[in-house]
Amino acid sequence: MKKILLPLASVALLALAGCSSSMDKKDAMGSDPMMMPFSGPDSVNYSQQLWASLGAAKLVGDAGSNPPAYKGVHPHGAVLTTKTSIVNVDGHSGKAIVKKNFGGEGISVDAVNADPAKYLKAVTVMFKRETGYDAENQDWFWAKYKANGELHTNDKGMQLAGRVAKGKPKGCIACHTAAPGGDYIYTN
Ligand code: HEC
Repeated sequence: MKKILLPLASVALLALAGCSSSMDKKDAMGSDPMMMPFSGPDSVNYSQQLWASLGAAKLVGDAGSNPPAYKGVHPHGAVLTTKTSIVNVDGHSGKAIVKKNFGGEGISVDAVNADPAKYLKAVTVMFKRETGYDAENQDWFWAKYKANGELHTNDKGMQLAGRVAKGKPKGCIACHTAAPGGDYIYTN
């Protein structure tokens, strides 16, 4: 791999004469709507398939079982649960990390353990997709769902599913890049 990539990279660098290769990638993505890093139709469709698989694995939805809750940290929620499992989406098996974010009046760890559905605000998911989906960011698919499986949106109305928000200074990828161990996972 490296043997082939390295000469290519130096040719690209020479051709760009000083332009950074990451700038080049951003331009390429911006000019092609099919390559929208997140919130496009492909990402939204995939998030629905993922939600169905998570439901079948009882990680979300009414039949979903809840691990013990714990006190959360910003930005996810006052109280959280985290559960990891392998699920299959469209023929691809990958690791899914499901974090439920709880909040609201009267919130406490005990209250959530007693009645999780009452306080569930969001279900944030990382799913390890096929190699090459997002090679620079370890091929994670990111999604933020409401309790009913609809997607949350950002302040520009973009649906939070896909490579969220690749190339932006804030968002899932930007913040999780800082997780220790270099695997984008905080709760190791
Ligand atoms: C400002 C920083 C920040 C942003 C933005 C953020 N997260 Fe996180 N995320 C964290 C932290 C910190 C944890 C560990 C929380 C805990 O103690 O359980 C975490 C945990 C998670 C986990 C459990 C796996 C892990 O890394 O421990 C998932 C899944 C997750 N986040 C998904 C998302 C998604 C999806 C988004 C975007 C919609 C997002 N996060 C945005 C900081 C962030």
